[in-house]
Amino acid sequence: MASLYLLCIFFLAFVCSLLLPASCDLAEERVALLDFISNVPHESRLSWSTNATTCSWVGVKCDDNQTAVIALRLPGVGLVGPIPPNTLSKLINLRVISLRSNALSGPIPTNLFSNLTLLRSLYLQDNRFSGQIPDSVLLLGRLARLDLSENGFRGTIPFGFNNLTRLTGLFLQGNGFQGKIPSIDIPSLVSFNVSDNKLNGSIPKSLEKFPLSSFSGNLQLCGNPLPECAPFFAPPAPSPADEVPPNSPKKKKKLSKAAIIAISVVGGVLLLSLLLILLFWLIRHRRNRNGSVGEKKVPRVVTGQAVMETGTTSSDIGIGGEKERSKLVFFDNRLYSFDLEDLLRASAEVLGKGIAGTSYKAVLEDGTTVVVKRLKDVVASKREYEVQLEILGKVNHDNIVPLRAYYYSKDEKLLVSDYLPNGSLSAFLHGSRASGKTALDWDNRIRIALATGRGLAHLHRTSQVVHGNIKSSNVLLRPDPDSAALSDFGLSPLFGMAGPACRASGYRAPELLDTRKATDKSDVYSFGVLLLELLTGKAPNQTTVGEETIDLTRWVQSVVKEEWTAEVFDVELVKSGDQNTEEEMVQLLQIAMACVNQIAESRPEIESVVKMIEEIASLCRGEVEDSIRQSSDDRSNGPTPPAAVTP
Ligand SMILES: *[C@@H]1O[C@H](CO)[C@@H](O)[C@H](O)[C@H]1NC(C)=O
Ligand SMILES: *[C@@H]1O[C@H](CO)[C@@H](O)[C@H](O)[C@H]1NC(C)=O
Ligand SMILES: *[C@@H]1O[C@H](CO)[C@@H](O)[C@H](O)[C@H]1NC(C)=O
Ligand SMILES: *[C@@H]1O[C@H](CO)[C@@H](O)[C@H](O)[C@H]1NC(C)=O
Ligand SMILES: *[C@@H]1O[C@H](CO)[C@@H](O)[C@H](O)[C@H]1NC(C)=O
Ligand SMILES: *[C@@H]1O[C@H](CO)[C@@H](O)[C@H](O)[C@H]1NC(C)=O
Repeated sequence: MASLYLLCIFFLAFVCSLLLPASCDLAEERVALLDFISNVPHESRLSWSTNATTCSWVGVKCDDNQTAVIALRLPGVGLVGPIPPNTLSKLINLRVISLRSNALSGPIPTNLFSNLTLLRSLYLQDNRFSGQIPDSVLLLGRLARLDLSENGFRGTIPFGFNNLTRLTGLFLQGNGFQGKIPSIDIPSLVSFNVSDNKLNGSIPKSLEKFPLSSFSGNLQLCGNPLPECAPFFAPPAPSPADEVPPNSPKKKKKLSKAAIIAISVVGGVLLLSLLLILLFWLIRHRRNRNGSVGEKKVPRVVTGQAVMETGTTSSDIGIGGEKERSKLVFFDNRLYSFDLEDLLRASAEVLGKGIAGTSYKAVLEDGTTVVVKRLKDVVASKREYEVQLEILGKVNHDNIVPLRAYYYSKDEKLLVSDYLPNGSLSAFLHGSRASGKTALDWDNRIRIALATGRGLAHLHRTSQVVHGNIKSSNVLLRPDPDSAALSDFGLSPLFGMAGPACRASGYRAPELLDTRKATDKSDVYSFGVLLLELLTGKAPNQTTVGEETIDLTRWVQSVVKEEWTAEVFDVELVKSGDQNTEEEMVQLLQIAMACVNQIAESRPEIESVVKMIEEIASLCRGEVEDSIRQSSDDRSNGPTPPAAVTP
């Protein structure tokens, strides 16, 4: 009986393979499709009736002779859950698969594509797939379009994409891909997108031709078309070579070809001139030995030079020794454990360039993220520098971004502080709305004003430190109710007469033009400008009235009181505000005006400013105040843990 059955099967197989190969394949494909659809929940309109032909089913396309299924297109039909194994993998004639905009999930079955060697387009975007890109995708030699975007794929982007030599479009955006972008070099590739992943490292040369939006929204990507990869000790400093410790492999790798050539040329020239000098000296020396007595003075001078040269050499060694002694000095060794070497190896991203120097966000190899500020034009001596920083290192307040470490060498002055991932007030007020940031409402603005004021009051009274550089880019936001902290404080003494306070246009108190010394009163002036900025939403040095750029302070002063609501306040505030908030805005504006009084002595002390703001804030929302108090009490005074890398 069994053998008869077997015979039947063999016979059928024989008939199939000889006479009707195509329709038998189609039968197999029909089974595979039914297997697929019956195992995946979907919308009811997708009912593949068993008494209709396979080729007439919704989303199924056959070739002209109706002998093979060549395309399966089921976009947005409510498919839910994982792709069942051994279903679609049997549709070996498929050229196109589109399952986009469904709710398919789970990893893609590993061998799904092993036998789909004819596949040209694969659209799986807008689903909930997870896991890694299966290796079998990398064997699809005819693939031209691959779209895996907006899913939950993770892992690294495989180098094996280079096997897909006919690829014209590769879309991987909106996933969780990590690590570096491999050097994908496919001549036919015209569309490429890896934005909104967690990629880091530099963008390979082969992909530089794609626009910035192909790469945006990643962790730490750098290099063309994004900003340059920025190691701390690279340019703009003109003398990077002598600052790099010899065992810093990363930096060495980053030397460009041009730099290497330049170094070799300079080195060659130096060597040559040394040889020439030696030769010259030898000749003269000889001549003098044999020569007349009258010329005896010359060798002395030459000897003098030789001594000087030795002197120089030894002082070089001295500097080298000092370099070894110059270490990163931590205020509290329990918080962070890294050294200068680690900082040098960290990947860095420029956060901002200011008058005092450039700030970098540095991600160390262990994931610790800190801000490193590289000061320029410091005139303070090593001793003065250390004394001032020891003072600043002791400042401890919730509304002050704590300083964690410093470094001093002849060529390099660094400050290390905590990284606050939410960005600055300036970015929130003036950054592009397109970047997804929501506008700040009145509640948040008054909280920021209060938090900043309290931080400043602490600096002035408890620490006896003048901030000297208050501006919206130095107000960093936090997600908690306390909302803001001041950074970059107390650096003016390091810069002598040309400190940041004297140069920050827009925030600079008028008397600084003469006195050139930042004071508590000039801080209050800058704070007043900051309040005006919060109220108007305008940056102090780019306020335009008609064609003309004017001072924010002068502009507000020039508008008559009755017009304030209509003219001065940020439209976003007026739009969303009610009668109450409007009154509060007017009150805060009056406080701001008191702070920006032209006469320093007439400005209020920061404590009374804080009290006035507290009154406004408590008028309508005592509960907000309570929550602020509570949260500052709850929070330990310890550091925020090294911020995890936040995309
Ligand atoms: C399929 O067959 C059923 C009866 O078996 C019939 O009622 C239905 O109309 C048929 N559908 C089509 C599309 O022919
Ligand atoms: C379809 O049939 C025609 C002739 O009937 C043949 O020339 C062609 O090669 C067939 N195409 C496929 C894909 O089998
Ligand atoms: C692919 O085809 C080969 C040979 O026909 C078969 O042995 C294998 O099981 C198929 N793989 C998948 C995943 O269907
Ligand atoms: C790429 O192709 C080569 C040769 O065709 C093959 O040996 C290699 O395994 C492929 N790589 C991947 C990742 O599939
Ligand atoms: C890139 O990210 C990976 C993991 O996400 C990490 O191991 C690696 O150190 C990072 N590299 C750089 C240069 O930041
Ligand atoms: C890449 O994808 C992102 C997110 O979908 C999109 O905003 C951006 O315009 C795309 N860039 C290119 C070059 O297609």
